[in-house]
Amino acid sequence: MSDLETRLPQLETEAMEALSRVQTSAEYETLRVQTLGKSAELTLASRSLGKAAPADRPRLGALINEVKRRVEGAFESRKSELQKAELDAKLLAEALDVTLPAPDISFGRRHPLTQTLDDIVRIFSNLGFSVVEGPEVENVYYNFDALNIGPDHPARFERDTLYVADDVVLRTETSSVQIRTMEARQPPVKIIAPGRVYRREAIDRTHLAMFNQVEGLCVAQGITFGDLKGTLSTFLSQLFEAAPGASTVQTRFRPHFFPFTEPSAEFDVFFNGKWLELGGCGLVHPKVLENVGYNPEEVTGFAFGFGIERMAMIKFGIEDLRLFYENDLRFLEQF
Ligand code: DAH
Repeated sequence: MSDLETRLPQLETEAMEALSRVQTSAEYETLRVQTLGKSAELTLASRSLGKAAPADRPRLGALINEVKRRVEGAFESRKSELQKAELDAKLLAEALDVTLPAPDISFGRRHPLTQTLDDIVRIFSNLGFSVVEGPEVENVYYNFDALNIGPDHPARFERDTLYVADDVVLRTETSSVQIRTMEARQPPVKIIAPGRVYRREAIDRTHLAMFNQVEGLCVAQGITFGDLKGTLSTFLSQLFEAAPGASTVQTRFRPHFFPFTEPSAEFDVFFNGKWLELGGCGLVHPKVLENVGYNPEEVTGFAFGFGIERMAMIKFGIEDLRLFYENDLRFLEQF
C-alpha cells in the first residue's frame, strides 16, 4: 500500500472533523482554503500522481477523486447549514415580538387655547348659537363704519391698527362679523364668531399684536338686556364651573361705552377671590341695525365680545400671554 493510500483516509477524517467544528462563515472560508485550496494537501495529492508507479495510477487517481468528492460535498452542505442558521439569527433579531410591552407613544393633546375655544363653542352651541367666521383682512367699512365707529375714533388711528391699504385693515375685533352676518341673514340671528384679531401693540405679558376673540350676536323680536345677562351668566358659570354647592359663578356687569351697543357694559367674573374683567357687551345700537337694513322698531339684539387668551389665562392660571405662542412643550404638556 502506498503512502497516499494511508494518508488520504486520514485527510478525509481530519477535514470532516474540522468542518463539524466550524461555526461561522468566516471560519468556514478559512477551512475551505486550507482543505481544498491550491496548496492544500488534497489538491497537491492529484499533482503528485505523476510520481506514482504507472500501475498504481488509475487506482490512486480514483481514490483521490472519491475523497475529494466526499469532502467537497460535505463542505457544500455545511455551507448551506451555516447560511440558514445565520439568516435565522438575523430574522430573529429583527422579528417583531408582539408579547413585548409597546414602546412609549406620546400622545399629542389640544393646545390650551383650542381646549378653551372648544369649551366656549360647546356651551354656546347648547344655548342655541351657531358658529360663523369672517375674514381677517377686512374692509374699514365692516371693521369701523358699519359698527358706528366714527371717522375720528382713536381705534382707527394707524397707531393702533394695522392697515393693509387705505380702506383695508387686519381686523381689530371680531365685531365686524356681526355686520357680515346680519347683511347675509334675516332675523332671528344667533351666532358666535371666533377668530384672530390684530392690533399694533408693543408685546409684553398681557399684550400681543395678534390674539383671538369670540364675538356673540343675538337679534330677534323682543330681545332685552335680561337675555344678555342670562346668556353670559350661564356661559360663564359653565366655563368657570360653579363652586361646589353653588349653581352659578358670580358675574357682574359694569356700565361702559362701546359705539356699537347702547347701553353698553363690561362683564366680570369672581374667580379665585378676585373680580376679573372679561369682555364687553350691550344691546345692539339702533344705528348698527339700520346699517344692515334691519328695522330697530321691529327687532332688538344683544352683542358681546371677549378674548379667548384671557379666558384661558384665568381658567388655567397662566400669567404670561406669550406662553401660548412659544410652543414650548414644557408649558403645553401641563394642560
Ligand atoms: N369689540 C370689542 C373689543 O374688541 C368687544 C366688544 C364689546 C364686542 C362690546 C361686542 C360688544 O360685541 O357688544 O374690545
